[in-house]
Amino acid sequence: MASVLVASNRGPVSYALGDDGSLDTRRGGGGLVSGLSAVSSQDSLWVCAALGEGDREAVRRGAGEPGVRMLDIDPEVYADAYNGIANSVLWFLHHHLYDIPREPVFDAGFRRRWESYRDYNRAFAEALAAEADESAAVLVQDYHLALVPGQLRALRPDLRISHFTHTPWASPEYLRMLPQDVREELLWGMLGADELGFHTWGWASSFIDCASVDGADGTARGVRRSDDPWHGVEHRRRGGPKRHTRVRAYPLGVDGEELRALAHRPEVDEKLARLRAETGGRKTIVRVDRTELSKNILRGLHAYRELLTVHPEWHDRVVHLASAYPSRQDLESYRAYTEAVTELADEINAEFGTTTWQPVLVSVKDDFPRSLAAYRLADVALVNPVRDGMNLVAKEIPVVSESGCVLVLSTGAGAHEELKDDALTVNPFDVTETAEALHKALSMPPTERTDRTKRLAAAATALPPQRWFLDQLEALREG
Ligand code: G6P
Repeated sequence: MASVLVASNRGPVSYALGDDGSLDTRRGGGGLVSGLSAVSSQDSLWVCAALGEGDREAVRRGAGEPGVRMLDIDPEVYADAYNGIANSVLWFLHHHLYDIPREPVFDAGFRRRWESYRDYNRAFAEALAAEADESAAVLVQDYHLALVPGQLRALRPDLRISHFTHTPWASPEYLRMLPQDVREELLWGMLGADELGFHTWGWASSFIDCASVDGADGTARGVRRSDDPWHGVEHRRRGGPKRHTRVRAYPLGVDGEELRALAHRPEVDEKLARLRAETGGRKTIVRVDRTELSKNILRGLHAYRELLTVHPEWHDRVVHLASAYPSRQDLESYRAYTEAVTELADEINAEFGTTTWQPVLVSVKDDFPRSLAAYRLADVALVNPVRDGMNLVAKEIPVVSESGCVLVLSTGAGAHEELKDDALTVNPFDVTETAEALHKALSMPPTERTDRTKRLAAAATALPPQRWFLDQLEALREG
């Protein structure tokens, strides 16, 4: 039994099954891992899904780590919930990614996948209900598990439950595309929580705008109080008592010391030496993303092409290091996007490259040491998502950069709320503006660049993961 429980789709460990039947354990990083490390491991439990065959085998063999419970959910139910709903519907709604003339289509297939999503959430709710001590704090993560708070509240009314959304939250017009009963089920799921957290006040505010229900199951309305910091939603399920769900922003930052230490390991030094040789002392524009539709990698490349067209003085003096490692390749739109990124980079290289200068270097490997080396080398960081919950790359690069780096940051990134004063802001759709920002960034005098980087690094480390986690835990316990 545990007094602090975390639930997320992707857990802190994963297992790979070797040809000889051996299980290789891999540990993940990220804000949650270091956040939860602030709590004694004897009292805490992390509930996550088995993602692949290695994980499922580890569950069958009972080979899991202490403090982690992996749920071996039926693979078809899991695929429908993860690919079919979480990544193809909820992700697209929250990031405003639909190609509206064609999508979304909410048909019988969608209804079947939605049932799987409900079942997958229920598996989490049941595991949490079984493992939680009396009045334990349960911190549920992300859009994969939006129904868990409501399901868990019904099973265990004694628990303190929070939900944190790591993505943006959809605008009301976007969320209203969902069939009404599904939209209401989603909201009732979230409103099962005592506390809802978002990376920015902007996304928190979108949730409050969306949380208006007057239906068969009850009523809910968003509340903003000008005279008090309480913002949230008042609601009443039919036949139940009136309840409140508080809505707050916790802008996750980075742990500066830990990140700098990671960035100075010998393997990163080696990668840095290699990158220096590849870029030949030229200036660098660095970006690091999953190949993710919302990251806007294509318009970033178009902007770089426009920079080289309009400002030929940069020919042979700059290299764009674009790390775009594969993600969600089960989805056709992601496979097509990954291909389009490589094709466009090839076109730019064919158009401007010479025998001694390759203008764009794309790396499609998920290679964190190489990314850290690129961070150290960066003269300019390009972070231009169309819509993004936070974007930690925007915070990591200024912390690690060696001689100061100019951040070109779009208004779509959650990080823009905190970093806008010292970044060069761009509209993510405006390729010409982005090209000009790249030019300005490459031309910025060293002192201005250093001063801005210092202030960016200070803002980026304001709420490191442990504090971010403990603040939420304290707020949840205090009620
Ligand atoms: C986003 C989500 C995370 C997710 C990550 C990677 O940051 O907020 O919950 O884990 O993307 O996506 P994946 O589908 O590979 O877990």
